[in-house]
Amino acid sequence: MIIAVDGPAGAGKSTVAKILAKQLGFLYIDTGAMYRALTLKALENDVPAGDEQNIIRLACAVKIELRNNADGSLSVILDGRDVSLDIRKPLITQFVSDVAKIKEVRQVLVKMQRELGSRGDCVLDGRDIGTVVFPGAQKKFFIDASAKERINRRFKELKGLGQDVSEDDVAGDLSNRDKIDSTRKNSPLRKAPDAIYIDTTDLSIEQVVGKMLGFLK
Ligand code: DC
Repeated sequence: MIIAVDGPAGAGKSTVAKILAKQLGFLYIDTGAMYRALTLKALENDVPAGDEQNIIRLACAVKIELRNNADGSLSVILDGRDVSLDIRKPLITQFVSDVAKIKEVRQVLVKMQRELGSRGDCVLDGRDIGTVVFPGAQKKFFIDASAKERINRRFKELKGLGQDVSEDDVAGDLSNRDKIDSTRKNSPLRKAPDAIYIDTTDLSIEQVVGKMLGFLK
């Protein structure tokens, strides 16, 4: 069974998708982490986000592994190296949407995501899972929250990771990524017509997961 979880940045979809996967005993696939890992590889190779040809070249050669750990956490392995923390750094966040808008990059990563998803029951989170990667997914959720709440959640998350960010930085980043992710030509962020919309603004993580489990029954 495939469960698709889409939504804008900071809505909490990774958090709830990860818990949902653990509770169901499904594989969790964080597709945003794959775009982030490729962005890290580009920056480490001094390839700027605007250099599409070289980014596409790197995308064709990259090896990204998503490891589901027993404690419910996810390790992201780029070419054999654990980059789980590196991919959350502000520089990656700043450029990832520019990398993710490149059509050929999406083709390569979507192919990888479909291969991962074909291995068994899984929960995938991203922007285009229900619309493009697995349009036939048995269950689709679109997780949203008000802009204010999304800024607040992302700010707390980054502070928790020890990053020195201000709320203004986070607000700027989210609005910039929302704009690029939802207006890009290739697979923009959209709610699939058959996705269940959940506004999580006033809900706790447990309440959101509870709602999702309710819809799965
Ligand atoms: O979920 P996230 O913030 O880690 O995602 C990072 C970026 O990757 C996001 O700004 C848009 C892009 N992305 C995408 O285009 N398609 C996906 N399926 C997942 C993420």
